[in-house]
Amino acid sequence: MASPSAPDDLRELLIAPMAGDPDFWTFATNSRRTMGHALFNYPAMMVPQVQAALLDAWLAVEPDGGTVFDPFAGSGTVLTESMLRGLDFRGTDINPLAVLLLRVKARPLSESTLRRSLESVIDAAIDDARSDRLDFRGRDKWFPEDVAVQLTRLHRAIRALPGSDVRRFFWVCLAATVRQVSNSRTSTFKLHVYDEKTLAARDLDALAEFKQIAADNVAAASVERAALAKASLLQVGGRYRGAIDCRRADVRQLAPSPNQADVLMTSPPYGDNRTTVPYGQYAYLPLRWIDPADLDGQDQLEQLIDSPYRTDAASLGGHAPSDLAERLSALMERSDSVRATAKLLTDLPGDGLRRFATFVCDLDEAMEKINGQLRPKAFQFWTLGERSISGNRVPTTRIVAELAASRGCSEVVTLTRSIPNGRKRMAIRNDSVATMGTESILVLQGGADGAAPQAYATYQ
Ligand SMILES: C[S@@+](CC[C@H](N)C(=O)[O-])C[C@H]1O[C@@H](n2cnc3c(N)ncnc32)[C@H](O)[C@@H]1O
Repeated sequence: MASPSAPDDLRELLIAPMAGDPDFWTFATNSRRTMGHALFNYPAMMVPQVQAALLDAWLAVEPDGGTVFDPFAGSGTVLTESMLRGLDFRGTDINPLAVLLLRVKARPLSESTLRRSLESVIDAAIDDARSDRLDFRGRDKWFPEDVAVQLTRLHRAIRALPGSDVRRFFWVCLAATVRQVSNSRTSTFKLHVYDEKTLAARDLDALAEFKQIAADNVAAASVERAALAKASLLQVGGRYRGAIDCRRADVRQLAPSPNQADVLMTSPPYGDNRTTVPYGQYAYLPLRWIDPADLDGQDQLEQLIDSPYRTDAASLGGHAPSDLAERLSALMERSDSVRATAKLLTDLPGDGLRRFATFVCDLDEAMEKINGQLRPKAFQFWTLGERSISGNRVPTTRIVAELAASRGCSEVVTLTRSIPNGRKRMAIRNDSVATMGTESILVLQGGADGAAPQAYATYQ
């Protein structure tokens, strides 16, 4: 339980480094991705060193630690940093590819197992003389024939590995390979085919690409495993010592949990996926090459992986509810920034108001459910990027702070950081969807009563 001075102590700890370096939270020269962070290039990943510093500050005021909760867990940046500190972790994400990454990062495997398995995958793929190709909608648009044959051989070789943990590790390597060898440009998160000239000039070797990616991933995972072992964070069989629970879920559907987490550390999407970062589209081609039996979300998986757009439509801001106008009015009562933004967008042409309203209603619903996962007075660290709509910046940080205040949360501090390599890449580069070159870290403390836990339902 937080001491009464904990919010002041935390604020002091977070702003103190800025006295010597006002840009401290930018981490401009210290954002290299190593260990589990290096396994896959997921869109809009957090900077590990920033989350590490936030976790350390939290642990300084609440040294007993406990369970870290990241409801929009993505590639698992917070998961890995939590593990390196021996903490328990819970994470959810709606995207099956993100949950695959979380599962892989939660289960550090030994270097010898990974090296042996990699050898067997490469040998099996080389020995495989079959030239059939996995079949799915759009395959021939997105993959040259020889590439599809090689990917199919790799798929078969990975599927033959014993043990889902090992298979999942190599599915991630295959997913990274697919990003490199498909006909979709790597310069955008959207599916966007290269022009004819570029396609004709490409000389692709999917097997060689996979071999390199997998070797790099084995090396990165081995460094992490050694670090965990050195810190005595592995059990006798090699599993991580803490409790980890990662699952595919829509945050808006989470039932209150009696096993309440001790801190929130998360970064929600900037806006609807379609016009900001299309995580689902990004995941579409990689997911087509992975055995669904090793993915999460069996109930909806077939629909999700069969369409490039379904995950994005199911994500925050993807689908306007029928009572959107009433819900927006209610939010305007609770947040001046929602009211001001809605007013601004009302007079503009296009569907900006509808997109804003849909996203903010979904975000508020997610915040309600997130509250139900946290213990009273838990600290919350929100890393928030802001987007603009028709040239108007959407003040997401203020909106989250105000909506949280209406639920009894108090603001500890807001930190601003530049995004070092300029803006995060957007789906479409134009003024109506651009995000800004800065993001905020909003630190809140939850209310005293928290959420009333109900049945131990969907959160295992
Ligand atoms: C900014 S990214 C998180 C990136 C992550 N912090 C990392 O470092 O990789 C936001 C994530 O929210 C997920 N998301 C969007 N809507 C969701 C929902 N309704 N429920 C759960 N996850 C959702 C997206 O799939 C995406 O992975």
